[in-house]
Amino acid sequence: MTGSNSDVQLVGVAKTYGDSTVLTDIDLEVAHGEFVALLGRSGTGKSTLLNLIGGLDEPTQGDVHLLGRLLSSLTESQRSQLRAKSLGFVFQFFNLIPTLTARENVELPLAINATPKQEGRKRARTLLGELGLSSCENRFPEELSGGEQQRVAIARAIAHDPAVILADEPTGNLDLETGKSVLALLYEICRRRGRTLIVATHSDEVLGLADRVLTISNARLEEARR
Ligand SMILES: Nc1ncnc2c1ncn2[C@@H]1O[C@H](COP(=O)(O)OP(=O)(O)OP(=O)(O)O)[C@@H](O)[C@H]1O
Ligand SMILES: [Mg+2]
Repeated sequence: MTGSNSDVQLVGVAKTYGDSTVLTDIDLEVAHGEFVALLGRSGTGKSTLLNLIGGLDEPTQGDVHLLGRLLSSLTESQRSQLRAKSLGFVFQFFNLIPTLTARENVELPLAINATPKQEGRKRARTLLGELGLSSCENRFPEELSGGEQQRVAIARAIAHDPAVILADEPTGNLDLETGKSVLALLYEICRRRGRTLIVATHSDEVLGLADRVLTISNARLEEARR
């Protein structure tokens, strides 16, 4: 444990690729149940930061704690277990499994968490319905539009009710109305269920709902005054 009650804690984190410093001196604490929006122009390191928080990538310097666990102290298998149980990740480019249908993609995190098959199927169907995707259930990712794939990716990220949801531009491919309803769903999960939500975004809607707005600029993280 870290002695911190935060779900996410970064201390002195830096990430470089060769000579290029993408992130430096990042200190961040996100409390349980908080909704944080992450802003920054294209290429400033939003996806990189989410990947570090989720343990999908390792920092060049500094420590990342997720739910009280220092990620670098865990084995790859322990990190995978922590992610599978406690993390929902909406990838910028969806990362759906092409050989599985929409419903099977959503069932996957439930199966990994040993949810009985029938229960997992019911939950996946309910979520796909809530996201307006009932007619897409049995289609493969390549048979879905970009916005449909994005919503399947969101359903998959929240299916197992993870403690922490990291969403990388989750409304980027959606029209305004669909984006609003997806955001409302994430917002409700955060507020009603007390889940922690970090969203990389350019959307004004997200900024209006978040507890805090952070901006990456010149490789550093700044908190916007509100
Ligand atoms: N594996 C890698 N090797 C080298 N450079 C990388 C790698 N991954 C990312 N970068 C660089 O790191 C910087 C940050 O990338 P990142 O994808 O985090 O930006 P972003 O803020 O998410 O951008 P966008 O808004 O376009 O999604 C970019 O300059 C990118 O080119
Ligand atoms: Mg990105």
